[in-house]
Amino acid sequence: MIVLTETIKKVNSPSRLTLQTVKIAPETTTIRSLDWDRDRFDIEFGLNNGTTYNSFLIQGEKTALIDTSHQKFRQLYLDGLESLIDLSTIDYLIVSHTEPDHSGLVKEVLQLAPQVTVIGAKVGIQFLENMVHQPFKHRIVKNGDRVDLGMGHELEFVSAPNLHWPDTIFTYDTKTRILYTCDAFGMHYCDDFLFDEEPDLIKADFQYYYDCLMGPNARSVLAALKRIDKLAIEKIATGHGPLLQHHISKWVEHYREWSQAQAKAETLVALFYAEDYGYSDELARAIANGIIKTGVAVELVSLNAAEPQEIRELVDAAAGLVIGMPPQSAPIAHTALGTILAAARPKQAVGLFESGGGEDEPIYPLRNKFQEIGLSEAFPPISLKEPPNQTLEQMCDEAGIDIGQWLTRDRTVQQMKSLDGNLDKALGRLSNGLYVITAKKGEISSAMLASWVTQASLSPLGVAIAVAKDRAIASFLQPGDRFVLNVLEEGNYRTLMKHFLKRFPPGSDRFAGIKTYPATNGSPILADALAYMECEVTSRMECSDHWIVYGTVQTGRVAKLDALTAVHHRKVGNHY
Ligand code: FEO
Repeated sequence: MIVLTETIKKVNSPSRLTLQTVKIAPETTTIRSLDWDRDRFDIEFGLNNGTTYNSFLIQGEKTALIDTSHQKFRQLYLDGLESLIDLSTIDYLIVSHTEPDHSGLVKEVLQLAPQVTVIGAKVGIQFLENMVHQPFKHRIVKNGDRVDLGMGHELEFVSAPNLHWPDTIFTYDTKTRILYTCDAFGMHYCDDFLFDEEPDLIKADFQYYYDCLMGPNARSVLAALKRIDKLAIEKIATGHGPLLQHHISKWVEHYREWSQAQAKAETLVALFYAEDYGYSDELARAIANGIIKTGVAVELVSLNAAEPQEIRELVDAAAGLVIGMPPQSAPIAHTALGTILAAARPKQAVGLFESGGGEDEPIYPLRNKFQEIGLSEAFPPISLKEPPNQTLEQMCDEAGIDIGQWLTRDRTVQQMKSLDGNLDKALGRLSNGLYVITAKKGEISSAMLASWVTQASLSPLGVAIAVAKDRAIASFLQPGDRFVLNVLEEGNYRTLMKHFLKRFPPGSDRFAGIKTYPATNGSPILADALAYMECEVTSRMECSDHWIVYGTVQTGRVAKLDALTAVHHRKVGNHY
């Protein structure tokens, strides 16, 4: 049994960045950079619980540092590290993967400790060479390779590509039985709890993080789980959020179950991107999130690292292709594009986006080639005029929804025909009012015509709304988000209903031509609505293809006391 002696050191800074160093096992210390206020990585990371960047120090006869921190923690992190160890005595710096939230201070550590040997996957070391622009000692490791630190700390490396970049490795310490996983099993959650004592508190964040970051690579998650199945794991030391110790089998099983469900999806989109170039990663993930909302699986594939055979197999298996333009100067990516083109076939759907790295392959010649082969364009090319903002990310999310819906259109029609006639008609006798849900998050707004709305509680006053998972507005209705429930008026609803029922191109303004004014909570109130209520999402429940969103009502108003709510009568219950 391992007896832990914990010492906690916290250094406060005015911008709510704090550092926590805690001994978690013999000769093993975590250095956690706590970013209390960070509320989004991209559009989907909106749970408002901050995040942490976790680094680890193992001091055997030799010393290894696993990952560093984000640049914003430069001083705090380096001071914290120097308080633990003389940097000139660090032997290894293990880079689990090279995204800057973990490797943002690699350059600084190498400047202060030039004797260090950097350990990473082959592609990770290549990425690092481009990041630090200085020679450094390195060792490339493959799955199963080991490094002995002495005092029992023999480290075994596990290849875990695509979790979350192609360069990801896990590190397993055979003495402490700690598995260091960087992004995998993490969550964007910042509080004083070091471990997962309260699973109910973090489950939503854990799942949300999986959906956004790991879901687009479910097959890679399953491959990594197979590799770690043989390990006796006492702790999972993640790169974000609390470390996992109390409910490990539960967390691992969640990953398995969610990934198996994804892998079973009948329809697949292969999404090719250049992960270390421009804004390719951000935009690829926003598109992937949209695709997943439609029940279609996505596989994110690196244009820099994928083997031609892997590319051919994926293109062959995929119903849709999405490509983020790589740099013209990258011969590997250029060859990968050629392989995709050669393997593409008519009737596949395709979508292209710019990556914004400054020397993108031109998008239109590639688009023409796909059209010549006979592929259908699922969304217009996404061009970058400026660095991504919420509007562009929302456009990408909606482009992903469009390609997913395009690919599942036959399934949707089949579902509509599949119910028993009588049951179908009986269900159609459920009738509801007509409403428009509006919401604003940061700079962007969204809206949805809704009918499945009901009062759900008296104290506090609460409403429940069923929202299909492939609705763009679903991203705006997370716990803590605010929205307005606009009630449409009988005899005066057709214009609004027609407007909000139409199909909007990705990223378009839902409110163009509609009179609105802002609610106290920032969401648009429709000027022609009969009544409105300002609400806050308290919780949401997953119900097959819908979310049931429960919101508490904070304020509201009726425009005409003698008018009635518009009612939606349907003939059948198996579609809207
Ligand atoms: Fe937390 Fe992929 O970096």
